[in-house]
Amino acid sequence: MVKQAPAKPAPAKPAPRVILAADREELARTAAEQLLARVTAATGRTAVCLTGGSSPEGLYRLLATEPYRSRLPWDRVHWFMGDDRFVPVTHELSNMGMARRLFLDRVDVPADHIHPIPTVARSPEAAARLYQAELERFYGRDRLDPAAPLFALVLMGLGDDGHTASLFPHAPALDETEHWVVGVAQAGLAPFVPRVTLTFPALASTREMLFLVTSADKRQILARVFSGEDLPAHRAHADGELVWLVDRGASGPIPKFATARGNL
Ligand code: 6PG
Repeated sequence: MVKQAPAKPAPAKPAPRVILAADREELARTAAEQLLARVTAATGRTAVCLTGGSSPEGLYRLLATEPYRSRLPWDRVHWFMGDDRFVPVTHELSNMGMARRLFLDRVDVPADHIHPIPTVARSPEAAARLYQAELERFYGRDRLDPAAPLFALVLMGLGDDGHTASLFPHAPALDETEHWVVGVAQAGLAPFVPRVTLTFPALASTREMLFLVTSADKRQILARVFSGEDLPAHRAHADGELVWLVDRGASGPIPKFATARGNL
């Protein structure tokens, strides 16, 4: 009988880089520097994928002020959104509305460089289809190539239940491998409005994925994610570098990021 060689375990992906910031201000400044470094390293047209929630607010405000206002190459950066609530951009719950108010409407960005999820479409699914088509147009093909990431930088947040973007625990969207964008009929956490979200394969198509985690009340969920629990935020991965930027208010003593589950 021919003995089969034992299957080789898949090589574990490297642990993410964790950057600890002293406070919210330092977190915002560090994120702004990372963003600036990524877009200036790119040549020509480049894309950044923004996130909603409160954690990026400080960063967004900074981008509209000096030195970022002058140093960012606004004429060649395109701004996308990783997920949005299915409400008009003028609604207070709109993620793109927030980004516009805090920085995009305050700087000299060509109008066609802002790519909101079309939340005025017939349904979240229809919006997802339209947004995927827009991403494909920008990327120039309909298959993602890990050697040529769609984004220079993808910003991510961490929800109290371990969700990220609008990828909630146990949702079918977590296992999506084909679609780049999907509609989410029911949010797992407030605000309970339908959402539209990029999926893990699309979010992963980036030179850097940068999680922003602020505030002391994220301590428990951060420890669960870092300890390797199978939560959406732990499943997130990047073709390029994966970085967690955490302010000390949120972290306290944090465990090392566990990679043994093979998700990373
Ligand atoms: C959303 C977000 C979501 C957010 C997290 C963290 O639309 O709600 O994109 O994924 O990033 O819930 O939110 P905070 O930054 O407010 O903690």
